[in-house]
Amino acid sequence: MKQWTTTRILKSKGVKRLACLTAYDATMARLVDEAGVPLILVGDSVANTLLGYSSTLPVTMEQMLHHTAAVVRGVSGALVVADMPFMSYQVSEEEGLRNAGRFLQEAGADAVKLEGGAIRAPLIRCLVANGIPVMAHIGLTPQSVLAFGGYKVQGREAEAAARLEADAAAVAEAGAFSVVLECVPAALATRITAAIPIPTIGIGAGAGCDGQILVLHDMLGLTPADRTAKFVKRFAELGAAITHAAQDYLRDVEAGVYPAAAHTYE
Ligand code: KIV
Repeated sequence: MKQWTTTRILKSKGVKRLACLTAYDATMARLVDEAGVPLILVGDSVANTLLGYSSTLPVTMEQMLHHTAAVVRGVSGALVVADMPFMSYQVSEEEGLRNAGRFLQEAGADAVKLEGGAIRAPLIRCLVANGIPVMAHIGLTPQSVLAFGGYKVQGREAEAAARLEADAAAVAEAGAFSVVLECVPAALATRITAAIPIPTIGIGAGAGCDGQILVLHDMLGLTPADRTAKFVKRFAELGAAITHAAQDYLRDVEAGVYPAAAHTYE
C-alpha cells in the first residue's frame, strides 16, 4: 500500500495541513512525490499547462488516461487522483461509473475527481459504492466556465454562499473523501471547512481550508507572469530559467564552444 491513501487524507483533517499539487507527466510527478506531497492531481488543467488550450473543455478521456498513467509511473508515495474530463460523467451515471473505473483499471489512479456539488451526489454515491474513491470540486468549476461567463470568484452573495455550503454538505454526505474549494471567499471556505467532516482543499479559497492545491506550472513560474491568478504564489521562476538555458545553448553552439572535448567521444 502507498504511504498516502484516501483514508489517511481523511484522517488528516484538523491534524495536518495537506499541500497538494497537480502533475501531468512521470518526471514532474516523481520530483513532486520526492518532495513528500501527499496528493497529486492529474488535473484537466493539462489542457492549459501542456496542450495549449484556453479552457479545459476540449480534453478527452484518452488524453486524461495517457497523462494519468504517466504520473502513476513516476509516483511511489503520493495518492494519485485523476480528473474526470468534461462530458465523461455528466451524461449518465452508467457512463460516469464506466469512465471512472477506467482511471483505476487502465491508468492505475487511486481516485477520481469530478466537478459539481449536490447535483453530483448520486454519482459520487454510486462510484464510492463500487469502490472508486472520489474527490469533489465546488466553487469555480472550470468545466462550467461558459455558464459562469468567465473565471470569477463564486459564492460572494448570501444565496450563492448558502448554495455552496449545501453543495459541500451534499458531496461529503455522498461519500467523497475530500473536496476542492476553488475561488471562493476565505470566510465562506473557513465556514465550510468547519461544517463538514472531510478535508477541504483550497485553491484561491484562503488559509482556512484543511489543505491547499496549486497548478504545478503556475507555482513553478512556467505560466506567463501576466496570466498568473492573484491566489498563486510563484515558488520558482523556471520559465525564465529555461529561456536562459536555451539562450546559453544557442550562443555556445553558434560560437563553436559546445560541444567541447569533455562532451566528445574519442
Ligand atoms: O484541473 C486542475 O488542475 C484542477 C485544480 C485547479 C484543482 O482542477
